[in-house]
Parts: sequence; structure tokens; C-alpha cells
Amino acid sequence: PAALRELLLGRIADVPDYPQPGVMFKDITPLLADPAAFGALTDAFADLCARHRADKVVGLEARGFILAAPVAVRAGVGFVPARKAGKLPGETLGQSYDLEYGTAEIEIHADALAPGERVLVIDDVLATGGTADASLQLIRRAGAEVAGVAVLLELGFLAGRQRLEPGLKGAPLEALITV
Ligand code: PRP
Ligand code: MG
Repeated sequence: PAALRELLLGRIADVPDYPQPGVMFKDITPLLADPAAFGALTDAFADLCARHRADKVVGLEARGFILAAPVAVRAGVGFVPARKAGKLPGETLGQSYDLEYGTAEIEIHADALAPGERVLVIDDVLATGGTADASLQLIRRAGAEVAGVAVLLELGFLAGRQRLEPGLKGAPLEALITV
């Protein structure tokens, strides 16, 4: 609803020319520091967990961790971290994805998801969609099902939604705010 959107959007700061010239960085730290806003965001994501019948949430390092962990507790589902490569101690599945310059890789533990489990991916921002798309590939390679992707903020002009569409295979992309 409009009130939630205003509450959340009012706590996201625009930082021009960060981390490089021409980029408008979306800083969620004011939102995290406001328990009313952070609580409302957590409730909204937990509602999406229930609506899409998620058994687990996957949080995308690093900002996705902060948002997804309280959602898992609130919704009563497990939390699984998708970490940047080299940080998980066990056997892993890895997926690389393209950045503007170069590539990055995220990993999950190979046994973190069970076949047939429904997984909701949570992150702060959907930009080009590369990070989220890599997570969808990991979930499917683990044999689990994609219940959906939920983000706080979708940057529509970067067309991440279009990039994610093949990987979603009909699962929903839920953006609480789109700019
Ligand atoms: C940012 C943001 C998303 C991702 C979106 O994370 O938090 O995870 O980029 O970009 P994309 O849709 O183009 O993939 P970043 O990799 O900067 O790292 P952080 O979360 O660790 O700060
Ligand atoms: Mg991130």
C-alpha cells in the first residue's frame, strides 16, 4: 500500500556518484536504523513468504542477509545464505554472473536446500538482475523450487525484471517499491 511505500522510500537515501561517478547509490542504512520501518519491511516480506508458500528464504550477501534473516524468524522458515565465493566451509554450488566490469560468483552449501523445497530469494535492490539470476540458478541446481524473488527496491530503468524472467519460469518477482 501507499503508506508502506512512503515509509520505506523515505528511509532510503540517494547517494550520488557512489561507488563511481554517474551511479546513484541506494543506501538502506537509515531504514535499518528505524525499527518502525525495518519492522514494517520485515512484516511485508514475511507476508510474501506465506503467500508464496516458501519453506526457506535465501538472502544474498551482504545486504540481503540483513533483510532476510529477521524475515526467516518472523515467518518461521529457515534462512540460507548465498555467499560471495570462498566464504562457506562445506561443499558448495557456485554460480558466476557478469558485473559491469568483470564477473562475480556466489555460492550456497550443496546440502542447504532439499529437493522440492520452495525458496524465496530476498535482497535489497534489483538493479541489472545479475545477482538474483545467479541465485535462481543455484536454487534449481540444488533441486529446490523457486517460490519467488522479493526485493525492497526495483530499479526499473536497469531492466532487471526482463533479465530475470527466463530464470523465474513463471515464479513471481515482488518489488515493494519500483522506481
Ligand atoms: C548490490 C545490491 C544487490 C545487487 C543488485 O549488491 O545489494 O545485491 O547489487 O545488482 P544487480 O541486480 O545488478 O545484480 P552488491 O553486490 O553491491 O554488494 P552488497 O550487497 O554486499 O553491498
Ligand atoms: Mg547486494
